[in-house]
Amino acid sequence: MSSTEIQNAAEIIRLSKHCMAFTGAGVSVESGIPPFRGENSIWSRYDPSLLELRYFKSHPETCWPVIKEIFYDFFGKAKPNAAHYALAKLEQDGIIRALVTQNIDNLHQEAGSREVYEFHGNSQRLVCLQCDFHEMAAEADLSVLPLYCPKCGGLMKPDFIFFGEQIPEKAYQLSMGAARKSDVCIVVGSTGEVMPAALIPAEAKRSGAVIIEINPEESLFTRDITDIHLRGKASEIFGLLNQYLK
Ligand code: APR
Repeated sequence: MSSTEIQNAAEIIRLSKHCMAFTGAGVSVESGIPPFRGENSIWSRYDPSLLELRYFKSHPETCWPVIKEIFYDFFGKAKPNAAHYALAKLEQDGIIRALVTQNIDNLHQEAGSREVYEFHGNSQRLVCLQCDFHEMAAEADLSVLPLYCPKCGGLMKPDFIFFGEQIPEKAYQLSMGAARKSDVCIVVGSTGEVMPAALIPAEAKRSGAVIIEINPEESLFTRDITDIHLRGKASEIFGLLNQYLK
């Protein structure tokens, strides 16, 4: 990738009137959180049916210990990386207006991003499947599993969508709204394989936005909607972009 491509992308981002970001698991890889697909991925080590809602409801005693291991013991130690901080700074500088993320790791918020639409929810919150009571995972006792609701005794689950669950309506509407208003969409670390999340950059494209993709590999977006593919790791690419965004 040439410095001209980087300079060109930085200029487009700097001059944008309504820039948005769309992130996938790849933006958190350099924080030590493996992607869901590809080599060394989550689904190559764990059975995705653990996050299948029906299976979880009928086997909570099997699912909860593994969910704790992945999303609280393992993911819980992850910290934001340079890419998360760069995206937060672009929002603080008034360039990025909204960030849509498929990630449930809360790292964008920990890095300082405020306008974050959690397309798949957030593992920091827990929700009761019976009465919809919510509490922060940090306030729950994860040493006794499965987790049951302190209000009604119903089964609790992490507040991110399991396979078989709907996308949170508010996050969907806000994300689509941001895509329709955007003139630039920075797509970071996503295969584009997961629906309906992948509709967001597609909607931005349909609405006339320039699509700048940051990913070391090609994705389903690359040939279909990407205008500029900055091929590389998120933190490296943002390091290069920042030289021209100051
Ligand atoms: N920087 C940028 N991108 C990276 C990096 C990196 N350092 N490392 C890997 N990637 C890219 C990979 O090339 C791939 O395109 O990140 C992407 C990770 O792919 P997925 O794990 O499929 O992530 P994503 O597209 O976000 O789909 C994840 O799938 O199971 C569902 O709900 C779950 O939100 C999750 C979604």
